[in-house]
Amino acid sequence: MIRLGTPLLLGIPELDAQHERIAELVNAIQGEIQRHQEGSAAARAETAPACCRQVRRLMQGLARQIDQHFCTEEGMMAQCGYPDTQNHRLEHRLMLAEFMGLFRSICAGEACLKPSDLVALEHWFIGHLASDDLSFARFLKQAPLRVCRLPLSNIRPAQPTRLGI
Ligand SMILES: [Fe+2]
Ligand SMILES: [Fe+2]
Repeated sequence: MIRLGTPLLLGIPELDAQHERIAELVNAIQGEIQRHQEGSAAARAETAPACCRQVRRLMQGLARQIDQHFCTEEGMMAQCGYPDTQNHRLEHRLMLAEFMGLFRSICAGEACLKPSDLVALEHWFIGHLASDDLSFARFLKQAPLRVCRLPLSNIRPAQPTRLGI
């Protein structure tokens, strides 16, 4: 279960709201799997297809949310001249590729989502937020006024077209 307390808030409302939405979706997936696992073996067998459908639906929403969020961050970095943009973007690419690999294998029926998959998902999300995203937020807040006070409406995220879903 992801809880975004004060240490993980960036103080940039648009990004904090997107992080919150990602956390909600991860938690919803976790809740769905937990509910399924609490049932008897017979009940689990009966509800497995519905559970899988729901998990797939939630993961699709999560994939889109993550992609949109990364594009928003990368758009802001580009416009503010963030010096670590390349490394941060690379982290995004690696995380998205890993997530999409998991998502596609589940959609293809090759794998079931395991609790450990969710733990890994939580770890990268929290880890990235606590290091890379907070560093970017610090830069934004310390950047010269002309750079960091760009109205968010001027920040154009790149088109989230990488998913193919
Ligand atoms: Fe982020
Ligand atoms: Fe990021």
